[in-house]
Amino acid sequence: MPFQSNSSDAKSIKIVVVGAGSVGVTTAYALLLDRLAADIVLIDVDKNRAQGEAMDLSHAAHFAQARVRVGDYEDCAHAAAVVITAGVNQKPGQTRLDLVKTNYALFKEVVPRVAHHAPDTILVVATNPVDVLTHAALQLSGFPVERVIGSGTAMDTTRFRHELGRHFGVNPRNVHAVILGEHGDSQLPAWSLASISGMRLRDYCEAAGVEYDEAALEGCARRTKEAAYEIIRRKGKTNYGVASVLVSILQPIVTDSDAIMTVSRVGAYGGVEDVALSMPCKLNRSGAYQDVPLRLSESEQQALRQSALSIKEVLDSLEDQPCVLEDQQYSLRAEL
Ligand SMILES: NC(=O)c1ccc[n+]([C@@H]2O[C@H](COP(=O)([O-])OP(=O)(O)OC[C@H]3O[C@@H](n4cnc5c(N)ncnc54)[C@H](O)[C@@H]3O)[C@@H](O)[C@H]2O)c1
Ligand SMILES: *[C@@H]1O[C@H](CO)[C@@H](O)[C@H](O)[C@H]1NC(C)=O
Repeated sequence: MPFQSNSSDAKSIKIVVVGAGSVGVTTAYALLLDRLAADIVLIDVDKNRAQGEAMDLSHAAHFAQARVRVGDYEDCAHAAAVVITAGVNQKPGQTRLDLVKTNYALFKEVVPRVAHHAPDTILVVATNPVDVLTHAALQLSGFPVERVIGSGTAMDTTRFRHELGRHFGVNPRNVHAVILGEHGDSQLPAWSLASISGMRLRDYCEAAGVEYDEAALEGCARRTKEAAYEIIRRKGKTNYGVASVLVSILQPIVTDSDAIMTVSRVGAYGGVEDVALSMPCKLNRSGAYQDVPLRLSESEQQALRQSALSIKEVLDSLEDQPCVLEDQQYSLRAEL
């Protein structure tokens, strides 16, 4: 994104990244290159390493005219957004849901502190399992639902468009297609909504004289779902894709641009209440809104319900431990 009309606003914009590991620092670097914020703060339990990262990033920041520094939770005050990337990540063969206990315990420590110092900020959660932790972050912060956003299937949607673009030989920008539901194994491709150049896929194939190859298209969805496993098997983690997705979520928040993206938010889906998963949301300065109309097919609605149920099952398995948040007792499953 080139330096643009928001450049004057960027002067006062602060973005905090909690967790200066691989995803956190790659995100900070992508933020710098996009010139989205003037002040980037890294918070990590490993202060020494975070300091090293901040120093290194500062030398890149010199050209981007932003400041990168290590901070503490007080520094979350007045942040436009706080991105949470702290936590353990998948080992080869592990699912995202395997991480839940460790990262939920970490969220109990981190989220109330962020919320205390930055009661008006927007939380953007990347830590996995991202849907479960988006739900936890809502409960632990006490924020309104639109201000707790999980990166969700924004990553999968990007991968899916990339796969379809390759299959059809068109730029992914010109492919409109979304992955909904869990950022994980129960996600679903919304085939009924997919389009190229304003035409549904079947119409596009017919008009272009190419075969609507169902097996090949299923292959695109399968590679989308398995991409993270494949990358982790080869290099042990993922960082570049998710970092640029996080920046593309922060961008409409900071610039108040009403972009529609598939991000995770707590809501009711397919008759399953109080669960977070991804649907198209409108993003602006006040957060993520589900006022984007969506007409799914019958089988897609069923798949969405299944996805919601599988996330709900993990939420229910978390022990119902109360936590103290500014003199009030909240429990994970309490209705807010
Ligand atoms: N949503 C996505 O699309 C996506 C993609 C990739 C990774 N992830 C997730 O992001 C998380 C981080 O992955 P990573 O590869 O950067 O891991 P990493 O190990 O490189 O970094 C994690 C960082 O968190 C810090 N940390 C641990 N406990 C903390 C605490 N209490 N407070 C502050 N910081 C703390 C660690 O010191 C470390 O620097 C994982 O949960 C991973 O699964 C999500
Ligand atoms: C963001 O969008 C929502 C829903 O459409 C709207 O209610 C809200 O006022 C918008 N916020 C801003 C700052 O424009």
